Amino acid sequence: MKNDKEIIEELKQENKALEWENQLLKTIMDCIHEGVFVTNANGEIILYNRVVEKTEGMKREEVLGRREEDVYSFSSEYFFHETVTNKVRKTGKSVVEQHYEYSLPDGRKTSILFSTFPFYYKGQISAVYTVGRNVNQIGEFIAKTLEMQKKLFREENNQSHRAKYLLEDIIGISEKICEAVLLARKVATHKSPVLIIGETGTGKELFAHGIHNASLYAKGPFVPINCAAIPETLLESVLFGTVKGAFTGAVDIPGLFEQAEGGTIFLDEINSMPFPVQAKLLRVLQDKVIRRIGSTMEIPVNCKIVSATNVDPFRIENEKIIRPDLFFRLATVAINIPPLRERKEDIKVLCANFIKKYNREFGLFVEGISDALIELFEKYHWPGNVRELENIIESGMNCVDGDKKTLKLDHIPVYFRNRIRKLMEQHLEAGYSGELHKTLADYEKKFIEQALKKNQGNISKTADDLGIWRQNLHYRIKKFGIEVRETP
Ligand SMILES: Nc1ncnc2c1ncn2[C@@H]1O[C@H](COP(=O)(O)OP(=O)(O)OP(=O)(O)O)[C@@H](O)[C@H]1O
Ligand SMILES: [Mg+2]
Repeated sequence: MKNDKEIIEELKQENKALEWENQLLKTIMDCIHEGVFVTNANGEIILYNRVVEKTEGMKREEVLGRREEDVYSFSSEYFFHETVTNKVRKTGKSVVEQHYEYSLPDGRKTSILFSTFPFYYKGQISAVYTVGRNVNQIGEFIAKTLEMQKKLFREENNQSHRAKYLLEDIIGISEKICEAVLLARKVATHKSPVLIIGETGTGKELFAHGIHNASLYAKGPFVPINCAAIPETLLESVLFGTVKGAFTGAVDIPGLFEQAEGGTIFLDEINSMPFPVQAKLLRVLQDKVIRRIGSTMEIPVNCKIVSATNVDPFRIENEKIIRPDLFFRLATVAINIPPLRERKEDIKVLCANFIKKYNREFGLFVEGISDALIELFEKYHWPGNVRELENIIESGMNCVDGDKKTLKLDHIPVYFRNRIRKLMEQHLEAGYSGELHKTLADYEKKFIEQALKKNQGNISKTADDLGIWRQNLHYRIKKFGIEVRETP
């Protein structure tokens, strides 16, 4: 049996826990975007969060504990409490998603979108709570969104919807890239949607331009949209357009599907498209018609749909990033652009192409790239693919003197050299005996052979030259199988 002292102690602990929980809930109430207003069974205000303070321009100290009719008796607000909170208290039924306009003590007008609910405790209504949003703020949000939509529309028009690149601009001699270009050329002439899959910087946009220009739609506009760059709430109206009155501030504006009429719509980063928009896009692909938001009129869709993603299809499927039914339709034809590390044969020709480009831009006369640098490039894993290669060449070309004909390792930015060095060290530390290790060994072998040649095969002189012990040189000669020939 517990004695009185123990019971009191236990109650104290319970009170502390309740106080803590109460404090936590109040703190959370003050950081949400909705206004929360609660009255108890007697109609006294017991919770009045920060958003309501801001909306109504009153402090909670002024209102807490007072009956709502006393607080709001100054104006028509009483009407709200009379008709809404009292109704909910009397009927026990919620009032959901209502719009209500009223004036504040300082004369400002405000309007809220709210829901009011009864709170039952032990079978009785012990409180009524209202959760609402300030419509003025929602209005501001919609206005901002529309402004952006109009800006986008103008920008898109100004770009005159031209695709800059041709499939011929895609540089590469590897079997993989040639196959991808061949497939792109073939599917360009079909009406089916095309999905381009490739890591960042592999040339997805280049392919999209190329496909458009090689397609039956080449004379029409090329309308790109990056699904990741548009806020979720806006994407739908940008794609499908709106009609006046669809929502506060909505105007008659065509969506990108309409703007792409007779041309190509390029849905870049399709993996970032929110699910509700994916559902609408699926319907467009099935029915070949769109409806502007707020309209029932069906507008036929007549454009090629090219989309791109840098997320590999296994992840898309496993993590359900794109709805399977939509993915299946978008990827009627899928073009895989392999990463640069899987087509090393392309590095040399890409380098030559970028050198030509930056010779023209910087007024240089560089003819090529040193073998050592190419070898290094071929060992690197290129996480940023062709874009990264182009950036490296561009930085290198910035450091080449006007009279130099070869781009060398010294011209390459330090951060890149360090990155490669680190990579090599990591592989060596891990006891890696693969390609990178072999490259280093090859370098070393060549270096020793050259030193031996210079010193006519004299071991002592060569060791001196290399700054290593004779025994060490012997060991390396044996290890690399170097043939030593003393020349007179
Ligand atoms: N095969 C190629 N030949 C010539 N230039 C290329 C090739 N592939 C990519 N590039 C160039 O590399 C850069 C990146 O290409 P692009 O923007 O098409 O890549 P992306 O796959 O769309 O990348 P992200 O996923 O980051 O958007 C561009 O400057 C592009 O011109
Ligand atoms: Mg891109």
